Amino acid sequence: MKYSQKMWQAIDERLCLSSFSYSIPKNGNNLGYILGGITLFSFIILFTTGIYLALLYNPEILEANSSVLLMSAGFIGFIRGIHYWAAQAVFVTVILHMARIYITGSYKKPREFNWLIGVALFAITVGFLFSGTILKWDQEALEAFEHNIEIAKLLGGIGAWFAAAFTEVFHILHRMYIIHITVLPFFFILLFFEHAFLIKKLGISVWPANGERVQQEATLPFTTHVKKIIIFGFILLGVLAVLSAVSPPPLGPEPIEGIEVTKPPWMFMALYAIENILGLSSLFYVSVLFFALLAAVPFVDMRPERDPRKRKLMIAALIIVMALFIALVLMAALTAPKAHIG
Ligand code: HEM
Repeated sequence: MKYSQKMWQAIDERLCLSSFSYSIPKNGNNLGYILGGITLFSFIILFTTGIYLALLYNPEILEANSSVLLMSAGFIGFIRGIHYWAAQAVFVTVILHMARIYITGSYKKPREFNWLIGVALFAITVGFLFSGTILKWDQEALEAFEHNIEIAKLLGGIGAWFAAAFTEVFHILHRMYIIHITVLPFFFILLFFEHAFLIKKLGISVWPANGERVQQEATLPFTTHVKKIIIFGFILLGVLAVLSAVSPPPLGPEPIEGIEVTKPPWMFMALYAIENILGLSSLFYVSVLFFALLAAVPFVDMRPERDPRKRKLMIAALIIVMALFIALVLMAALTAPKAHIG
């Protein structure tokens, strides 16, 4: 036995690292099947860069904008750029991961519950993006924050945490910061553990056209799967570093209350277009409807058939939703900013 193998055995005997491995079917190293791993890698980038940024960020209302300005130059500016671009990468990779699972029918029995955990993880991802946008406390942030207050009013008692009157001691920006750096990471880690546990127990689904039988016959070593995720993760990190250097994240001056002149980041543009048409309260109703429909997917399409070529209706629904999303983003991008708060 080689020295490195002996070393690994000695470590594994004590830390039981190999018990984290899960079943990898032959198709498990295709790009579509490592998107969840790449999303996780992007989250690790977000957490590490976020810890560094937290050393300089000041959530006091009069200091927030200037503290972000301070962390926009030099090396910390570069780290802020990676954090900013990694947030967008997470949004893209998680949507692609979800689309792969949808197309390959991997939400079907026995993985329905893991789909639901995924929906909750997606909601948390959106929460991270939204609260992160507010922290920089420029005009775009203030307007997002004011939308947040309006929705809280609409929710009455349930929205109390988000309402300005919840506590007089700290400004609500402080609470948004707590949400961003403790509440959301806590729920993310908790849910991700259950997500990973179920993946380990149930294994990754086989490519549907091959039939479940293949899973027992041909599997890949877990280490090659992890290696592939790490290689793609570092390629992504390289791209994020280049983006950070050539296109640093924007930061406007201190915000002015009582005006509404900005548009949200592109991830929220589809919602912005809907708000332009149906008004501010639609942000809440449309989001609830969207997440309810997403959660319902495994219970609407319950047939065991997973081959996308034999699930034409479900695939058509996905194409319509994707086309609608792109159309709404373009619509919002092409219209002038509009005021929604009375
Ligand atoms: C937000 C962060 C998320 C992370 C870090 C994550 C991570 C992972 C990983 C590492 C896998 C293993 C297979 C792969 O890489 O494709 C996986 C599988 C899975 N994920 Fe996620 N996921 C996330 C979100 C979601 C979402 C939003 C959904 C669906 C709404 C979802 C549903 C599933 C299901 C059903 C599987 C099993 C797939 C199969 O067996 O083929 N996940 N996830």
